Amino acid sequence: MPISTPFAQSRRLLCPSILSADFSKLAAEVDEVLAAGADFLHCDVMDGHFVPNISFGPPILKSLRPRTDAFFDVHLMIAEPVRYAPAFVKAGANGLTFHAEVTGDVARTAREIRQIGKDNAQNGIHVGITLNPATPIEAVYPALEHVDLVLIMSVVPGFSGQKFMPEVLPKAEAVKKRLAPHQRLEIDGGIGPQTVRQAVDAGVDWFVVASAIFDQPDRKAAVSEIRALLA
Ligand code: DX5
Ligand code: ZN
Repeated sequence: MPISTPFAQSRRLLCPSILSADFSKLAAEVDEVLAAGADFLHCDVMDGHFVPNISFGPPILKSLRPRTDAFFDVHLMIAEPVRYAPAFVKAGANGLTFHAEVTGDVARTAREIRQIGKDNAQNGIHVGITLNPATPIEAVYPALEHVDLVLIMSVVPGFSGQKFMPEVLPKAEAVKKRLAPHQRLEIDGGIGPQTVRQAVDAGVDWFVVASAIFDQPDRKAAVSEIRALLA
């Protein structure tokens, strides 16, 4: 099944994080939010080491892959992204985003992950870098020419349903000025109807949302409301 790449679009995009989905009926949950107008899927991988929570790994992606042509934007909250990247690419990840905090050489890590994509997927993968709220934005700059995406964390990663941290918005504004036209700026954590416009105003392109979609009784209405605010 050909995967539709969100990088081909220049409008603002909404990507639900499956972290807040009901895993006992994950395929149906995913179908529901995509039918409601979500653009692609954010997959939060946690290793219980880099963050104090454990979520899921390649087997979940592998079982979802044949069920949808949605782009899998995989956020690796793990201490050893290079070690596990081949397994995620083989399982069907389309983008892999690693944390600046886990490497002493962000440029090298980005290049290594891109090469792993080339070696394990027909069309390669997209590579992203992200950083915790407390990490200065300068930490990602050495990797900028090697990545397709910068993800700004607007909560301390580990759990859905936390409060948005507006103090990270200056980092979004600063990095946006340095991005080339083909690169995207994403935000993750505490995004919902009350906060999304602040991120829009900071220049964000892609908006990750878990609890403000999956924890709502009417997911279609939740997706529509947030999408309308992205226009
Ligand atoms: C945070 C994860 C986020 C999280 C977002 O550790 O990286 O993607 O699921 O959840 P909400 O949208 O509920 O803040
Ligand atoms: Zn995430």
